[in-house]
Amino acid sequence: MIIAIDGPSGAGKSTLGKMLAKELGLLYLDTGAMYRAVGLAVLEASVDEENEEIVVEFAQKAKIELVGEPENLQVLLNGTDVSTEIRSAQVGQLASIVSTISDVRKILVEHQRRLGENAPKGCVLDGRDIGTVVFPNADVKFFLTAKPEARAQRRFKEDLQKGRTTTFEQTLEEINQRDERDVSRADSPLMIAEDAIVIDTSEMDLTEVFEQMVRVVRERQKMNYETS
Ligand code: DC
Repeated sequence: MIIAIDGPSGAGKSTLGKMLAKELGLLYLDTGAMYRAVGLAVLEASVDEENEEIVVEFAQKAKIELVGEPENLQVLLNGTDVSTEIRSAQVGQLASIVSTISDVRKILVEHQRRLGENAPKGCVLDGRDIGTVVFPNADVKFFLTAKPEARAQRRFKEDLQKGRTTTFEQTLEEINQRDERDVSRADSPLMIAEDAIVIDTSEMDLTEVFEQMVRVVRERQKMNYETS
């Protein structure tokens, strides 16, 4: 079973994706972490992120691995655990920039398909283009969204808990910038797949969203079972 979760940053995709993968015993793939790993590789090498040729070379050479259980997933870049480093706001912006390069997307999409197809029981993938490009035939497609202010508020709270110094206004500005880049890029922009179930999480708590998603998946599993 393949479950696609798409949506803008801060909508709760990764938290809910992990919860869903754990509940259903599926592999969890955070595809944003892969773009972030390429962003970090570029940052560490002090490469100009606008130089597409070099960025593509880095994406090709980078060995990106996601290991461990969904709730403590580790992201390895060339064998080094970079789970913390890839979460900085700077790497988030770089990820959003390198993700506009078609050849970078090709490399990572291929990697994601391979990992998803080889997962014995199936996979939950979260990203921006999972239901539209990576797995257009996914069994279930969710599109999680929320108002920018609600997403910025969540991100801001997380950042404070992690001891980062930032302001709400700065977080909101970054969210708006990333949204703009993610929806306006030419290759695989963030958009809602025709057959996606859209959930606006602005006014919902995590448990409510999770229960709704589990209900949808169980119904789909039952339908697949009855028609097979
Ligand atoms: O989900 P995230 O914030 O970790 O993603 C970081 C960036 O990577 C985001 O700005 C857009 C990009 N991305 C993408 O283009 N396609 C995906 N499937 C996942 C992320």
